[in-house]
Amino acid sequence: MSLTPLTETQQEIQTLARNFGREEITPHAAGWDRDACFPVAVAHRMGELGFLGMLLPEAYDGLGLDTLSYLLALEEIAAADASAAVLMSVHNSLPTQMLLHFGSDAQRERYLRPMARGEMIGAFALSEPEAGSDASSLRCQATRSADGASWVLDGTKSWVTSGTFAGVVMVMARTDSPDARRGSKGISAFIVTPDMPGFHVGKKEDKMGLRASPTVQLTFDGLRVPAENLLGTEGQGFVYAMRSLDNGRLGIAAQALGIAQSALDHSLAYAAERHQFKQPIRDFQAIQFKLADMAARIESARALLHATAAAKDRGETITRYGSMCKLLASETAMWVTTQAVQIFGGYGYVKEYPVEKLFRDAKITEIYEGTSEIQRIVIARELYAVRDHD
Ligand code: CAA
Repeated sequence: MSLTPLTETQQEIQTLARNFGREEITPHAAGWDRDACFPVAVAHRMGELGFLGMLLPEAYDGLGLDTLSYLLALEEIAAADASAAVLMSVHNSLPTQMLLHFGSDAQRERYLRPMARGEMIGAFALSEPEAGSDASSLRCQATRSADGASWVLDGTKSWVTSGTFAGVVMVMARTDSPDARRGSKGISAFIVTPDMPGFHVGKKEDKMGLRASPTVQLTFDGLRVPAENLLGTEGQGFVYAMRSLDNGRLGIAAQALGIAQSALDHSLAYAAERHQFKQPIRDFQAIQFKLADMAARIESARALLHATAAAKDRGETITRYGSMCKLLASETAMWVTTQAVQIFGGYGYVKEYPVEKLFRDAKITEIYEGTSEIQRIVIARELYAVRDHD
């Protein structure tokens, strides 16, 4: 369902994603969650179907689609499994977009085609154990080698989605000197691949939700990165990361909506089947009010997301709206899945029924790619900037 009028292509993409999700993801999602394991073959299959190159131009083997088509597909994949969706969101929104917008021709030539085809999964490494919301306080150090042919990276990155099987990682590291720190202007972005000497995959997190998605620490121990793998201009890495996160937050909003819609759909079905006091529980006003509020919140978050996607494609800066979309959709997902567990009662609390997983998966959407508190800070700063400018 969507209030937004969709083109034929958008409807086709949505249907393709829905069918793929129902047939090839949903039947396995509970097992992947239980085993905390996501088969790489599924990521490759997503690549074959075009889901990993949705926003890349056809010249780079992408589908060259508009942002709304991408978000519609992402919502459908998230409804099937949020772990599959985060792989798709991070890959499409962060590393591929950073390369497309800030990379050199040679960098784009080298990496974008295998990424669009899903042969090379992308990851994004900004956070560190001591630098989460305060991203510009990161410490991973990049030092230029004496001959200028390479950079040497030392440090630890955390919360890296798809980190166990990523073929390329966009790493933000300090290129300023420890004696003369330059804050966010001392951060640069590097294209790192796991075959580079000194690249180590560290601790894999044992998470509450999104258990199939591998979230790891990466440790760089004198990691040698060729000089040509510096992305764009030295010192601009933080701005590149922030601009990419503007788009990434739309992806996480779509993921949150997929989780929420799935919780609503399961609740509607369960409330029709479950009888108590000699009637289906959906005939009780207490349940009707919950279902109505769930649907209204989902539609309002979706309407904002679709309008923001259109603004992005018109070339507008969407920083504030991107944060609003993520804030509204992720808090909607948490609220809606909480109601779903309540509607299911005891059955909502056990793994035999689907809403327990949706509830656990929803929580992370309020945390990663900027917590709800960070989204509120971004929105408030934008409000002040407009007011102070007028
Ligand atoms: N677009 C372009 N430029 C931006 C920008 C944006 N959206 N946001 C900030 N900048 C620029 C600023 O203009 C500024 O540049 P100038 O100095 O030239 O003016 C520079 O970046 C520094 O900006 P701030 O002073 O605003 O930086 P700050 O240190 O105060 O931090 C923040 C701002 C919004 C709090 C930011 O740190 C932030 O977004 N934090 C959250 C980090 C985050 O989302 N992490 C998630 C990591 S990814 C993940 O979750 C894992 C995964 O794999 C899914």
